[in-house]
Amino acid sequence: MIALITGATAGFGKATAELFAKNGWDIIICGRRKERLASMAAELSKKYNVKISELSFDVTQLDEVKNAIASITGSWKNIDLLVNNAGLAVGLSPIQTGEIDDWERMINTNIKGLLYMTRLVAPIMIENKKGHIVNIGSVAGKEVYPNGNIYCATKHAVDALNRAMRIDLVQHGIKVTSIAPGLAETEFALVRFKGDADRAKTVYNGIDPLKGEDIAEAIYWAATRPAHVNILDIVLTPAAQGNSTTVIRK
Ligand SMILES: NC(=O)c1ccc[n+]([C@@H]2O[C@H](COP(=O)([O-])OP(=O)(O)OC[C@H]3O[C@@H](n4cnc5c(N)ncnc54)[C@H](OP(=O)(O)O)[C@@H]3O)[C@@H](O)[C@H]2O)c1
Repeated sequence: MIALITGATAGFGKATAELFAKNGWDIIICGRRKERLASMAAELSKKYNVKISELSFDVTQLDEVKNAIASITGSWKNIDLLVNNAGLAVGLSPIQTGEIDDWERMINTNIKGLLYMTRLVAPIMIENKKGHIVNIGSVAGKEVYPNGNIYCATKHAVDALNRAMRIDLVQHGIKVTSIAPGLAETEFALVRFKGDADRAKTVYNGIDPLKGEDIAEAIYWAATRPAHVNILDIVLTPAAQGNSTTVIRK
């Protein structure tokens, strides 16, 4: 079995690569940070005796995505699973003062990056007559929260695209699943607050957040159901989170 995972250099993607490798899957790991991809490939292939292929590209750059997918040849084209995971939040400001550059980054990565990947990988799956696409959404794609405006909008778009691509691809036997996590401790908050580690830590103050491994398990479970079963949508939060704005902190 072969999985292609975007955003595999950190957080959910990294944990997912590890769990699938542990279960004997060969994996195409993607991300911009080449050195991380190289060390992960060396570690996972040795630890689990699986094949790991590295593709370093920026999902927001259509030419880079096209070149990366075109470089997948031979048996690697037999992709069983695409995990559209690369994404980010940048900034947390009211709509009237938000940084437009931050908005562009979120829209380009979370929506356009996911679309480019899907547009280029789905035809390969159709040719193979099999495949499964897992889109990483968020509770921010189910509800909105103060100052979350553009990030929430991009994840609502992912939620809509998840449902839309399913009805387009069902005739080709391709499954489509959304995984929508709540608060999870990864590099996400550090990216959102542009490297401000102290502010990033406050996001997880007094709670036991989700970990990358929790999301990896949800993805793995959805990807390993029997052929006749498709999981449409998994929403998971830490036990301390009631919704985006109700978080019980000790
Ligand atoms: N953590 C949370 O609380 C949370 C909750 C719900 C949903 N999510 C979603 O889960 C997904 C993964 O987030 P995470 O928490 O694992 O964050 P993370 O630890 O910051 O990891 C993000 C990954 O995305 C990749 N990435 C970002 N921009 C990219 C680009 N332009 N091109 C290629 N790769 C790019 C990064 O790799 P490089 O930097 O190496 O390119 C990295 O591997 C995102 O879609 C996020 O919106 C996160």
